[in-house]
Amino acid sequence: MTKRNGRFKGRSVGVVGDLSLDEQRYLYAKARELKAETAAGGEASRFRIGDPDYSAYLVFLENSTRTRESFRNAALFHRVRATMFDAATSSFAKNESLTDAIKMLVGYAPESCFVIRSKLEGACSWLADYLGPWAERSGYARPSFINAGDGKHEHPTQEFLDEFSFLEQLGWDDGRIHLALLGDLHHGRTVHSKADGLRAFREVVVDLVAPPELAMPEHYAEKMRRNGFEVRTYGSIDEYLASGKAASIWYFTRLQLERMGESVLEKAPALRKAVTFRKDMTDKLPSGTRFYHPLPRDRLAPVIPGFLDDTPLNAWDAQSANGYYTRAALMGMLSGVLGDDFEGEGLAAPAADEEFVLEAPVSNSAKPEYKVGIKPVESGLVIDHIAPGAPVEQIWNRIDKIRRVLGLNVRSSHGVYHTNSGDFKGIVSVPDLLSFGEKDLKRLGAVSPGCTLNLVKDREVVKKYRLGMPPRIYNFDDIACRNELCVSHPSHQEHVETSFSRKKGTDTFVCRWCEREHNYSEIWI
Ligand code: NCD
Repeated sequence: MTKRNGRFKGRSVGVVGDLSLDEQRYLYAKARELKAETAAGGEASRFRIGDPDYSAYLVFLENSTRTRESFRNAALFHRVRATMFDAATSSFAKNESLTDAIKMLVGYAPESCFVIRSKLEGACSWLADYLGPWAERSGYARPSFINAGDGKHEHPTQEFLDEFSFLEQLGWDDGRIHLALLGDLHHGRTVHSKADGLRAFREVVVDLVAPPELAMPEHYAEKMRRNGFEVRTYGSIDEYLASGKAASIWYFTRLQLERMGESVLEKAPALRKAVTFRKDMTDKLPSGTRFYHPLPRDRLAPVIPGFLDDTPLNAWDAQSANGYYTRAALMGMLSGVLGDDFEGEGLAAPAADEEFVLEAPVSNSAKPEYKVGIKPVESGLVIDHIAPGAPVEQIWNRIDKIRRVLGLNVRSSHGVYHTNSGDFKGIVSVPDLLSFGEKDLKRLGAVSPGCTLNLVKDREVVKKYRLGMPPRIYNFDDIACRNELCVSHPSHQEHVETSFSRKKGTDTFVCRWCEREHNYSEIWI
């Protein structure tokens, strides 16, 4: 049996960014070696887990052919225990939560890897975060979770095989790529994963070709720009070809009818037309153009029609075969059989939280005298500037929320008062408290960003802090992700901790699991 102590052992891949760029490059290098050795008729045993006690669970709660079969064949290559689940035949159909079902499976083998396709966005990241530490506490090796497609979110292993295929076409030169993404860029998870996956190339120009209803969601387009890609958009293939700037790598995607709302579904035939290739377009392609597609193609209305199958444009067949090598190499990495010879940068440590409690000057000119009811506050804490300028009803709600969230069941008073500019604001005074702990400060910043916290001694404000938006908001009963497909959405009853982090320098909060962006007011139930 091959020794397994590579540095990726027990890691999980919920999104492309769960492997650093160098780790992704390592994966491509290993997949390439494995492919070459297999083609040469070699045993490829140095890539093999070869441990009958290692369990690979393939949990496919949405349909799949290629992804499931390439993983199953990869598990066979590795000579490990492989168990298949699908939605129709497993206890997932009996209303059991995903978390419960997977937890039970962890107990059946000393070491496990779960490949999961589910409509629940962020499911693998959640399972890795929750069940990883649980398994270790319970005496099992930390299991690996691999996302095989989660709703409209990501499909990282498809991304790895796509990048591998592009690199292969470009003779392993990762200097520059110019490609077009066409089709359903709105609902297609494979193209969303490209926002990080294309970083495999040092310079990236990406053309987004889709009618507005199927356009790439703005936060992915923005991520692409943030990653330094040049991004251009076109509404149809005709418009794209007319621009004279077409790429020679075209990545088509099928219309994801099963994920569309009714209003878009009604327009599907016309939308499909805009991104379907026609014979008369062939002459307008740059020479050497290759077409890719994650597949499946809709056999009744394919965006890459059958007349192209036996032409040099066909790169999709070879692309799908690469799924086997990249997935086998990834399983090798996460099981620890590969990874000893990795040199490069691993994942960056999470950035330190941004400061959100700022000391503010105590002004001498305006000296407010705070009151508890009709009595002035001799000493204690006063929360001031609560929702200034907001409608009075909202200020009262905010006051109520502060009292509830901080559990202010002590002697105190509160009220709605005039600000200097004639609007209204809320004030809560708590004379018996002289400080809040770090956790309560975070909670206060979260429920009432912009408020001030005044420390009063001998009726004078001696210290004043302004609370900004905290860098993370989690662990409140009354927050929830708005994305109904998110694994943390209350409707799924998975009991996932809701958690948001703020995008640096903005008031946008990103769900830790499905990565949906929210503005501040949207995260509160
Ligand atoms: C893709 C998927 O499931 O996201 N297919 C795949 O994994 N090969 C794309 C699709 O379903 O259109």
